[in-house]
Amino acid sequence: MKVCRRTKFNAAHRLLNHNWSDEKNAEVFGKCNSPNYHGHNYVLETWLEGEINPDTGYVIDLGILKNIIKEEVEDPFDHKNLNLDCPEFKILNPTAENIAVVIFGKLKKRLPQFKLTVRLYETENNYVEYSEDYN
Ligand code: NI
Repeated sequence: MKVCRRTKFNAAHRLLNHNWSDEKNAEVFGKCNSPNYHGHNYVLETWLEGEINPDTGYVIDLGILKNIIKEEVEDPFDHKNLNLDCPEFKILNPTAENIAVVIFGKLKKRLPQFKLTVRLYETENNYVEYSEDYN
């Protein structure tokens, strides 16, 4: 059985590779490398796969999942500048791919008993997915 919690957070970022020159970063990342940053309304889907607990009828109490996501994702990332405010992305380029991997690691530590998949929408049409299968 799979269950999902959807969470929204807003954050700013700038794509860049710290090992490259300004010119190469501008060439490769274009507008996403704009020095003054830009924002996204991210949508995170957290999917958990596990057995239904026969006592509760739940895979997980979604209130518990909501609180874990708040502590691990919303509190540190919502309304933040990912490059400047979040130590995870001081060096790591905050692409949707890398943000999804970071979120996966943070949530997996709290939910080791479940098969976890995170899907992160950077825009309505652009999203990435990272799961146990790639870990
Ligand atoms: Ni962007």
